[in-house]
Amino acid sequence: MKTLKINGQEFQTDADDDTPLLWVIRDEIGLTGTKFGCGIAMCGACTVHVDGAAVRSCSYPLGAIDNEAITTIEGLGTPDALHTLQAAWIDHQVAQCGYCQSGQIMSAAALLKDIPNPTDDEIDAAMSGNLCRCGTYPRIRAAIHAAAKVAALKPSGEGE
Ligand code: FES
Ligand code: FES
Repeated sequence: MKTLKINGQEFQTDADDDTPLLWVIRDEIGLTGTKFGCGIAMCGACTVHVDGAAVRSCSYPLGAIDNEAITTIEGLGTPDALHTLQAAWIDHQVAQCGYCQSGQIMSAAALLKDIPNPTDDEIDAAMSGNLCRCGTYPRIRAAIHAAAKVAALKPSGEGE
């Protein structure tokens, strides 16, 4: 049995060490906000955070996790207290079909943690591995800029 810390809660799993984290998150724990796209670490739909770093959970084996804190889109904000990025996504009506968007937001959150006020080029570089078949890239970029501005006005830590 392995204990996983996901979104501040502990979960037990007896899945094999080579099981992708995504399988456990979706199929065992039922957190279906994280999506399966390509399954080969190429599209970013399955992006979650492991100790704050964005990882591709479809290709991240359970055995690579020790005691790290895992965050999924469900743990980033709540309907009553949206993460700054989630609010910006709504303001800019970023989503079309929506399938890629939880992965996009998780990658954007990791970007803003490292670079609080990214340039267009820094956004494009950080987000280039997150594919969107609906072509929402301009809105994603605008929403990240807007979230960065709002975050800069907030006390440290709020809305992250
Ligand atoms: S489903 Fe993981 S990168 Fe595509
Ligand atoms: S919103 Fe449809 S794939 Fe990105």
